[in-house]
Amino acid sequence: MPDKHFVIPRQDINREDFTSSIPDFNRRSEFLKTDMGYKCIITNIVRLTEQEKLFKLRIIDTLERNIFRFKPGQFLMLELPGYGDVPISISSSNSNHEYIELCIRKAGHVTSALFNLAEGAHVAIRGPFGSAFPMDEMSGHNVLLIAGGLGFAPLRAPLFWINEHRERFLNVNVLYGVKEPSQLLFTYQFDEWEKISHIVLHTIVEHADAGWKGHHGMITDLFKDITIDPETTYAVVCGPPVMFKVVCSYLDKLGIPMNRMFVSLERRMHCGMGKCCRCMVGSTFTCVDGPVFDYWSVMNLKEAI
Ligand SMILES: Cc1cc2nc3c(=O)[nH]c(=O)nc-3n(C[C@H](O)[C@H](O)[C@H](O)COP(=O)(O)OP(=O)(O)OC[C@H]3O[C@@H](n4cnc5c(N)ncnc54)[C@H](O)[C@@H]3O)c2cc1C
Ligand code: FES
Repeated sequence: MPDKHFVIPRQDINREDFTSSIPDFNRRSEFLKTDMGYKCIITNIVRLTEQEKLFKLRIIDTLERNIFRFKPGQFLMLELPGYGDVPISISSSNSNHEYIELCIRKAGHVTSALFNLAEGAHVAIRGPFGSAFPMDEMSGHNVLLIAGGLGFAPLRAPLFWINEHRERFLNVNVLYGVKEPSQLLFTYQFDEWEKISHIVLHTIVEHADAGWKGHHGMITDLFKDITIDPETTYAVVCGPPVMFKVVCSYLDKLGIPMNRMFVSLERRMHCGMGKCCRCMVGSTFTCVDGPVFDYWSVMNLKEAI
C-alpha cells in the first residue's frame, strides 16, 4: 500500500515541462554507450597537401569493426596515447565498414604527433559522436554542398552518400574554394564524382598561380555559374565561420530558408559526449546537439559564429 503523501496525482504533472527540465540526461545517456574506445591500426597514409594527410584506419577487432556505424556529418575523438585526443570528422563513406578515413590538418600538439606516425601504428577512436546531415530529408531536392578549405573534410561523407544514392536527388552542385591551388583536397576523386554520378563540381582559388586555369576569386563568385531554385534547394556549408556567415546570408537573400541550410560548427572539445562542458555555446553542447546545426539554430546561438 503506497503512502498517499508520496503519490503525485497524474494531473499535477505537466509532462512537457517535466521532460524539458531534464533533457540533457536523456540525450546524454544516448551517447554514453558510444564512449567505448576502439583500437585501430593505421593502414594507409596519403599526403594530400602540404598541411593535410588522409589517414586510413581499420578497427582491429573484427566484432567491433562489424558493429561500428556512423552517419555522414558525425565525428570521432581520435586518441593518440601519450599526447591526447582530438575531434575529427569522418571523411569516408558510411557504407564502407572495413575502413574509416580521416582527413587531418597538422595544427598543433596532437596532430603534429600524428603526422610523425607511420603506417602500421596504433591509435584509438571513440564515437561516433554528434548530429549528422539530414540525408533522407534532403532526398528529392537540389543540393548545394559548399566547402571552404578544410571544410571539404566533413563534406566528403555526405558527398559519398549522395554518390551512392544519386537517383534520390535532383541537381547536385559542389562549390569548393581554397586560397591557393596547392590546397585543393581530394583532386584525384573529382573526375569520378563528375563522370559517374553527374555531380557538378565548381572550384575557385583566391590566389591563382601560373598553372591555374580555373576560376579565381571568392567562393560566392561561383554562384554566378549555377541556377538556384530556392523552393527546392538544400545547402550544406562547411568551412571557417567567416565563410559560412557570408555564404549563408547570400543564400538567405536568394530565398533559401534558414532551416534548409546546414553548417558544421567547430569548437574545442574534450569528451565529445556532453560531460566536460568544454564545447558549450551558451547552454548548447556543440558535441551532442551539433556539430551539424541548421542555420536558423546557429543564428539563435549567441556567439556561435
Ligand atoms: C567536430 C569537429 C570536427 C573536426 N574535424 C576535423 C577534421 O576533419 N580534420 C581536421 O584536421 N581537424 C578537424 N577538427 C579540428 C581539430 O579537432 C583540431 O585541429 C585539433 O583538435 C587540433 O589539436 P592539436 O592538439 O593538434 O592542436 P592544439 O595544440 O590543441 O592547437 C593548435 C591550434 O589549433 C587551434 N584549435 C584546436 N582545436 C580547435 C578546434 N576544435 N577548432 C578550431 N581551432 C582549433 C588552437 O586554437 C591552436 O591555434 C575538427 C574539430 C571539431 C570540433
Ligand atoms: S566536448 Fe565535452 S561537453 Fe562537449
